[in-house]
Amino acid sequence: MAKRVLVTSALPYANGPIHFGHIVGAYLPADIYVRYRRMLGDDVHYVCGTDEHGVAITLKAEQQGQDYASYVDHWHGVIAKTLADVDIEFDVFTGTAAHRNPFHAELAQQFFQDLHGNGYLVERSEEQFFSEKTQRFLPDRYVQGTCYHCGYEKARGDECPNCGKYLDAKQLKSPTSTIDGSTPTLVETKHWYLDLAKVRDEWLGDWFEGKAGDWKPNVQNFVRSDLKELRERPITRDLPWGVPVPVDGAEGKVLYVWFDAPIGYISISRQHWEDQGQPERFEEFWKSADTELYHFIGKDNITFHAVVFPSILWGAKRDWILPTNVPANEFFNLEGKKFNTSAGWYIPEGALDGTVSPDALRYALCTMMPETADSEWTWSELQSRINDDLADNLGNFASRTLRFLEKFFDGVIPAWSEPNEADEALLAAAKAHADEFRAHLDKFQFRKACQALMALGNTANKYYDTEQPWVTVKDDATRPRCGQVIRACVEMIDALSILATPIMPRVADNLRYAIGRGDQAVSLETVGAPPSDAGEITGAQLASALPTFIDAKGNKKTALFTKVTDDYIAAQRAQLEEMAAASEGPQPDPIADGIEFDQFAAVDIRVGTVQTAKKHPKADRLLVLEVDIGVEVRTICAGIAEAYAPDELTGKRVLVVANLGARKLRGIESQGMVLATDGADGKPRIVEPNADVPNGTRMK
Ligand code: MF3
Ligand code: ZN
Repeated sequence: MAKRVLVTSALPYANGPIHFGHIVGAYLPADIYVRYRRMLGDDVHYVCGTDEHGVAITLKAEQQGQDYASYVDHWHGVIAKTLADVDIEFDVFTGTAAHRNPFHAELAQQFFQDLHGNGYLVERSEEQFFSEKTQRFLPDRYVQGTCYHCGYEKARGDECPNCGKYLDAKQLKSPTSTIDGSTPTLVETKHWYLDLAKVRDEWLGDWFEGKAGDWKPNVQNFVRSDLKELRERPITRDLPWGVPVPVDGAEGKVLYVWFDAPIGYISISRQHWEDQGQPERFEEFWKSADTELYHFIGKDNITFHAVVFPSILWGAKRDWILPTNVPANEFFNLEGKKFNTSAGWYIPEGALDGTVSPDALRYALCTMMPETADSEWTWSELQSRINDDLADNLGNFASRTLRFLEKFFDGVIPAWSEPNEADEALLAAAKAHADEFRAHLDKFQFRKACQALMALGNTANKYYDTEQPWVTVKDDATRPRCGQVIRACVEMIDALSILATPIMPRVADNLRYAIGRGDQAVSLETVGAPPSDAGEITGAQLASALPTFIDAKGNKKTALFTKVTDDYIAAQRAQLEEMAAASEGPQPDPIADGIEFDQFAAVDIRVGTVQTAKKHPKADRLLVLEVDIGVEVRTICAGIAEAYAPDELTGKRVLVVANLGARKLRGIESQGMVLATDGADGKPRIVEPNADVPNGTRMK
């Protein structure tokens, strides 16, 4: 019987691009699951949109001098396109900002009031840092000061990066605002807290233990440890952008972004059904106890989806449904390191264009999915998955069958007739693979589902090899058997297309058109059953339904998948290294404390020329230079041996700090200092004056 299924993917923050790590974590698995459940005939509703409030978005928009709405509009557009490019197909993709979704604020406020009325909110006044300069309260993490545990001077209000302890911002010594540089003062402000411990004791703990058995172990462990340490969590903030707190005396306060965002799933869905002119469908999905609700997320969102949001839904006491499962993924890295755009560690836009189709990418990502542990993207893995699995297994089977039909059967697919034992065994094997495929997807084991698809491909290829249609076609006596074999292969293309449907929707379509079933409904139930219409099939598109490409000789060819070359993979790896190198190097030192002009003027720096250079007899790092500084010749020990051979220094122009007191360095008196800096390799580089400046000239 058809089930009602609601699927959500984490609402991405509208303040930056999303990358493969996000896609493989929360969007691709959800999209595959949705296509799978639709194929089973279920009534599926798939909701997403951008998460458009919060302090990070507020500050970034302000820094860029943009109004909040235009700022989030920009990123909303960028993110929507990235997701569409990999065929993530939501029923609706809007967001939480008022101008994009007229239902959101009202609904979030209703939840707040319901929780308030039901006694799950606690109201409390506390002192919080406030910037007089901007007339704003400061979130703790934007206050910097000296850690009261370890004395580190640049501790953040919420946490000390030096000793790693959580901090109470109010106790930081010498606090400053990292937003405007001012010294903030403590001002009293009122906030509302969600009493999670109360919800846990009344309901959450039992509810969770009742379901936990079905959830992924990584998620269960996470939630169990969370449940032990539940505390009250503030759900309001002092900010100018967000959903206003619906209480008298709360002017200038908004709901905390993590409170309003998950409610976005509901408000976005509401908006969708209103737009569709079927408003009754909204409550049908969100308030029928038998709706299955799945939240696809990355592991950093587990607490909010498995603990906080269920508490909000339950505590409102309006029959909102609760999550059936929260299949969170772990983290996804790139070639052993975290994706990091600013460090040049990412896959640049367009890198895959023309080489890796969206379907091939979806498949490859699916095989690499961080389902139970962190995993990574590697270029060589991409190549193997596309070449070995897609091209050599699936693609090869489809194209040899289709071309055989074109060559020996005039493009007519023969009837299914007189199946023998081998054919029955083939059908039985196909059914077994389809059953495995289902079992894996039911448990959110997407990698294993890919393996079941490939296992079916292997079975089909083996059948072709064993039956040898290229031999039986030659003899009139065996030609009927050849016809049945090739028909059985067509049924395998059908089966492959069905298993491919959720993962590679375009490829699945191509295959179905190729065998003349482009317009027929797809059902997993048919895999492994003899064809319902056993007659011959005319008018199928065969190989012409496959994607075209231009081969090395410039000829137009068709193939289900094109292989990825070693050159391409090498080029991608080299590019990644180059991008990383280009953005690496030491972080720029912060500018030192200010000085007066007199202090600068007191430093006497002269232009000079190195006359001789030799190694310091007692220190490997040092070279001993004789430098002509116009007025006189100085002996200077310089720590540059690592980067310069003595020979290359003779005649080099330098800048010398001439009024620095003389110092003995391992037995040799050094009368001044040569100015140097560090190159990109971290080794010293001498700073050279212009060639036409005479020795002895003073720098100013
Ligand atoms: N914007 C959050 C993130 O990217 C996810 C929000 S999910 C929601 O981590 F449920 F709150 F919407
Ligand atoms: Zn500290």
